[in-house]
Amino acid sequence: MANDIKIGVLVSGNGTNLQSIIDACTRGGLPGRVSCVVSNKADAYALERARNADIPALHLDHRAYTGREAFDEALVATLREFQVDLVVLAGFMRIITPVLLDAFPMAIMNIHPALLPAFPGLHAQRQALEYGAKVAGCTVHFVDSGCDTGPIIMQAAVPVLEGDTEDTLSARIQKEEHRIYPEAIRLYAEGRLTLQGRRVLVTR
Ligand code: GRF
Repeated sequence: MANDIKIGVLVSGNGTNLQSIIDACTRGGLPGRVSCVVSNKADAYALERARNADIPALHLDHRAYTGREAFDEALVATLREFQVDLVVLAGFMRIITPVLLDAFPMAIMNIHPALLPAFPGLHAQRQALEYGAKVAGCTVHFVDSGCDTGPIIMQAAVPVLEGDTEDTLSARIQKEEHRIYPEAIRLYAEGRLTLQGRRVLVTR
């Protein structure tokens, strides 16, 4: 459709969240389409998922660039080439710089496997288990210059069960990730997200 937004997805790994977004676009009801998938890892299965869906799948090796900024310049050039409106980080294991942030102001989203602001950073599920949290979950947020600190768009909670391992808890959280990430992107695509301070308001 003419007013569909173009989504650029950055990945490094399996890409189950990417898959949930591709599926949501295919099903309809999300006025957008994934216009490119970029991975910093050549062997990311997410690239295979993109190819299977006839979506341009690109590998940009961060090690081939002089630094984070140079890598982000290449990312921006690629995202521009595919006329991306919204950048979606889906298991993208790189720290991004102001080069990318400034190119897409309030148009970069991330999903984090914890109920932020609890347990930012790596191994969030392990952090929750080790802390003894009874409730865990996931957060979709706009990306700002901090580590998992941007304005929160949507969250979902799951229980932490006795006997949970990092794997069982991660699987329970991922089920919710696959539900709320496409949902948050849909709200963005429909132009229903506005920022008031650091609160994200959803208009009807
Ligand atoms: C997810 O757990 C997400 O919360 C985190 O990275 C993981 C990506 O998984 N940011 P996948 O590649 O989408 O399967």
